[in-house]
Amino acid sequence: MEIRTLVPEDAAACARLMAEAFEGGKRPAPVDENAKEKAEPSSTTLGVFDGARLVAAATIHDLHLVWGEEEAPMGGIAGVACAADQRGRGHVARLLGESLRTMHDSEQYLSGLYPFAFEFYKKHGWEWVGEKREQMVPTAQIKAAPEGKSVRCYDGPEALEIVRPVYAAFASRHRGMATRRDPIPNFWDKALAHRDNRTTYVQVYHDPATGAAEGYLTFRYPDDGDTGQIGEFFANTPAAYRGLLSVLHYYGTQVAKVQFSAPADDPLPLSVMHWDLETKVRPLFMGRIVDVAAAFSALRPDPALAGEIVLQVADGQCEWNQQSFAIMIETGHVSVMPTTNAPGITLDIQALTQAYWGQPSLKLLRTAGCLSVADEAQYALLSRLLPPSICYLNDFF
Ligand SMILES: CC(C)(COP(=O)(O)OP(=O)(O)OC[C@H]1O[C@@H](n2cnc3c(N)ncnc32)[C@H](O)[C@@H]1OP(=O)(O)O)[C@@H](O)C(=O)NCCC(=O)NCCS
Repeated sequence: MEIRTLVPEDAAACARLMAEAFEGGKRPAPVDENAKEKAEPSSTTLGVFDGARLVAAATIHDLHLVWGEEEAPMGGIAGVACAADQRGRGHVARLLGESLRTMHDSEQYLSGLYPFAFEFYKKHGWEWVGEKREQMVPTAQIKAAPEGKSVRCYDGPEALEIVRPVYAAFASRHRGMATRRDPIPNFWDKALAHRDNRTTYVQVYHDPATGAAEGYLTFRYPDDGDTGQIGEFFANTPAAYRGLLSVLHYYGTQVAKVQFSAPADDPLPLSVMHWDLETKVRPLFMGRIVDVAAAFSALRPDPALAGEIVLQVADGQCEWNQQSFAIMIETGHVSVMPTTNAPGITLDIQALTQAYWGQPSLKLLRTAGCLSVADEAQYALLSRLLPPSICYLNDFF
């Protein structure tokens, strides 16, 4: 068995593998002869080969997340697949191990993926992070508001330059959203493009005094059924939120319900409350700290925060994480060194990843017994270094 990075000549074998894993065995389209020129520099696909045969593959997308004022590089894992006759032999386990080394070498200190099963990736160190609310709202319960008169509809892609700063402002308040500057996959195209011969309507709230865009939603009529699909709903002011809800009130002449996902701080229940309002709380996706030292060094805490934490981390896949770290916090910076000093806090990479995202919080993780604390002062310091956070991510890869 050999693991190597796929090259354009592997495209046909990779397409066959993906068709078997994700498209019900659909016959793949012939490979584009210009594939070489189209090779995606911001993605790496690793493959397991049995002789000349490609038997398993996984892609790492070079993505970036908004992390407050900073950006965090993330290896987005996608297209994890193994040929059916080759499953259960540890091919994908090896591939994920190799992916972690590749991300580590590329300084992608975080990783993320959308799992088919949480248990499968948990064994390899990923864990669920962040919460979203999937809301099903009866349009009859949504009220019209005067702010609705300040909403204007744009035709899908033409709205890009208007909504980009709205998205950026929303992302700065919700940890872990994609910067949407990475070319592959094109998240903006997915958010705004018309699809399946249907229009994506972009409804933008403009402040009546300044004209500034302060919120938007994207709306698509359902293929069938009575539920309008809202792909994005990002409002940065209460007026924008009321204005956008008002548009949904008027969509009520055509759809009985609208469906949208939102972060845990979404104010919908303060505007709409009815027994028919349905909300499901779901994890966002699975995250993983690939490199503990780099992840902590990237933090920019309050300059008033100072002290030292000795953190012992258990990570069965990444030997560079499987050790104790002295984490020194001083003048708004964090430095990290290996240490043999007794740990103040001990936890595994899954719990550390969740605390790093900040949702679930370190406090909740402790309540659930996911960390052991030998030094309360160090725990208090870590709680301030990794505060609870409202996370969100509306992009699939
Ligand atoms: C999921 C998949 C990639 C695993 O590939 P694989 O090479 O068989 O993986 P491994 O050999 O490393 O691991 C297999 C082990 O995973 C575990 N596993 C499989 N499905 C699981 C699940 N739903 N939950 C928890 N563990 C699971 C099992 O322990 C299995 O071992 P066993 O059944 O032999 O005891 C493969 O089944 C596949 O291609 N499926 C279709 C595409 C897909 O769903 N991809 C994942 C997208 S996120």
